[in-house]
Amino acid sequence: MDLVNITIDGQQVKVPKDATVLEAARGIGVEIPTLCYHPEHRPEGSCRICLVEVVGAKGLVASCVFPVSEGMVVKTNTPDVREARKAVVELLLANHPQDCLSCQRNLDCELQKIAADCGIRKIRFEGEKKDYPLDAGNPALVRDPNKCVLCGRCIRACSGLQGVNVYTFANRGFNTTVTPAFNAGLHEATCTFCGQCANICPTAAIVEKDDTKEVWEALHNPAKHVVVQTAPAVRVA
Ligand code: FES
Repeated sequence: MDLVNITIDGQQVKVPKDATVLEAARGIGVEIPTLCYHPEHRPEGSCRICLVEVVGAKGLVASCVFPVSEGMVVKTNTPDVREARKAVVELLLANHPQDCLSCQRNLDCELQKIAADCGIRKIRFEGEKKDYPLDAGNPALVRDPNKCVLCGRCIRACSGLQGVNVYTFANRGFNTTVTPAFNAGLHEATCTFCGQCANICPTAAIVEKDDTKEVWEALHNPAKHVVVQTAPAVRVA
C-alpha cells in the first residue's frame, strides 16, 4: 500500500495515499465531528461540520472529502476551526424545531450531541423557519421534514444500499428538502419499509412509527394497507 507522511495536530503519521483527512485523523484517534458523512457511503462534503485547517490551503476545508498529500499539516482544533464549526451548527439549529425534550431522538440525536460538543448554549441566529406537514401516511415510517438537516444520508442509504431510490433532493436554497419524488408522501413512494433511512438519519427527520399494531396489520392485511396509505398527513402545529 502506498503511504504518505502527514502531521495531524502535531502527530506525524503515515497514512494510505488515497485516504481523506478525516479517515487519517480517525485512524489515529483524533475525533472530528461529522453529520453528512457516513463510513458506509460515499462522502458528499455538504454539511461542513468536519471543517479543519490544512496549512497552505485556502480557507478551512471539509476533512471528509479532502485528500491527504505528502507533507500535509492538518490542525483540527484551532480557535478558527472551532468557531466555524460552531457557526455551522448554530445555523442548522436556527432552522430546527426546539422540541428536544419531547423528541423521539432525544439523547440519541447526532445534531444534539454535536451542538453540546461545540458548547452551544443558545442560538445567536434567528430567521425564517421551515413549516412542512408531517408525512405520516406510511405504515412503518414517519417523516418530519422540519427536522431534516439535508445531510442526504437517507438518499444514499435508500439508493446505494437498498437500491430502492425513494428519496431525492428537491427545490433550491432555503426551500431545499429531501423528499420522495414529486413531493409525494412516503406512502405513495416505492418504500419497502426496510427502515434503513430511519436507521441512518442523524435526527428525528425519519423515524420508525411506534404504532406497532398498525404496522403489523398494514404488512399482513392488504385491505388494511390501502386504508393506511390513504391516511391524511398531519399538519405540524
Ligand atoms: Fe464533512 Fe459533512 S461531514 S462536510
